Amino acid sequence: MSPRAIPAIAERVSAPGLPTADRLGRPLSELRISVTDRCNLRCRYCMPREHFDSTFRFLPRAELLSFEELGTITRVLASMGVQKARLTGGEPLLRHELPVLVATLARVPGLELALTTNGILLPKLAAPLKRAGLGRVTVSLDALDDETFGRMSDSRHTPAEVLAGIAAATEAGLAPVKINCVVKRGVNEHAIVPLVERFRHSGHVVRFIEYMDVGTTNAWRMQDVVSGDEIVARIAARFPLEPIDEPGPARVARRFTLSDGSGEIGVITSVTRPFCSGCTRLRLSSEGKLYTCLYAQQGHDLREVLRGGAGPARLEAYLAEIWRARGDRYSELRTSATAELRRPEMSYIGG
Ligand code: GTP
Ligand code: 5AD
Ligand code: SF4
Ligand code: SF4
Repeated sequence: MSPRAIPAIAERVSAPGLPTADRLGRPLSELRISVTDRCNLRCRYCMPREHFDSTFRFLPRAELLSFEELGTITRVLASMGVQKARLTGGEPLLRHELPVLVATLARVPGLELALTTNGILLPKLAAPLKRAGLGRVTVSLDALDDETFGRMSDSRHTPAEVLAGIAAATEAGLAPVKINCVVKRGVNEHAIVPLVERFRHSGHVVRFIEYMDVGTTNAWRMQDVVSGDEIVARIAARFPLEPIDEPGPARVARRFTLSDGSGEIGVITSVTRPFCSGCTRLRLSSEGKLYTCLYAQQGHDLREVLRGGAGPARLEAYLAEIWRARGDRYSELRTSATAELRRPEMSYIGG
């Protein structure tokens, strides 16, 4: 939609206070904000080094949305029904002065504020982020042993650094901490049970994520996916599990408690059991492109709209129109034909 369409749209704004539903009847409730496309790791499933090397053109700082612009967009979306905002990247802790942004967003009424990070910089930033008003963090950790972690993250950083980050987040009160582990066949299946073992009794929730076909650089193949069912079976063989039933539309994670009461785990089955019917998320790239799906072909240029002088009312009309037109359900339609489509990289659109 071009920003020039705004005046026409403004006349068609829905009644204030009504939740906006998309074409499949899904309300808008969550915003994921990528604050940088850079990262200090090079996970093979996300930013393979041969593509994201010294010649890769990361977004220049001048092209990023300012904290003020992010505040404006978030306030408007909160007034339209968004209850949760998640800061992501790339690696969001690399964004200069991130606690200042958190302080801005923490002032938006009724908004739960979370962040997804690889944890390396948490020892330095957990306490300032908590003071600024961050609610909780999710930390990515794909293995506890150095060798497997090194193969997954293609870096010299270590799981010990991530564990120190998790400890810092816990100490700062950024709880409950969730741990995200992407599982890739032949690389880290053996890390699943040790992760469950390590974090039971800690109050942290470990979630295992099916390796997804996001972006076009990770050379994804179906045979590299370990299904959620297989992950659950592996865990249950060691720690009996009980499913937690949740009413309502499909949630991102299927949750289980360990039968001995020592903890909770989750599986995120975007490939084998998609959850598009319950997908109420919008994603914003760090340069201000708004995406209605992780796999959307194109984003809507909010930066141009904002810098073109749109105030909150016009912005709301524009956003409502985008949401109402939304019919995305890529993961439910995934076929060999969709495999040919251009897809944004996760490090750009947000994890
Ligand atoms: P909380 O409930 O707020 O803790 O988060 P969540 O359950 O939404 O999970 P989180 O934000 O940690 O997302 C975990 C992972 O699930 C992401 O890194 C993605 O890999 C995947 N994921 C999250 N949202 C979507 C989505 O809308 N579509 C798809 N296909 N995958 C998603
Ligand atoms: N498949 C699944 N999850 C991915 N992430 C990034 N790339 C992929 C992929 N190919 C998610 C992971 C990670 C977060 C930052 O992004 O959940 O923890
Ligand atoms: Fe960085 Fe997270 Fe992507 Fe790994 S998954 S390369 S830590 S953004
Ligand atoms: Fe939502 Fe798109 Fe993921 Fe489906 S594939 S859950 S519509 S982001």
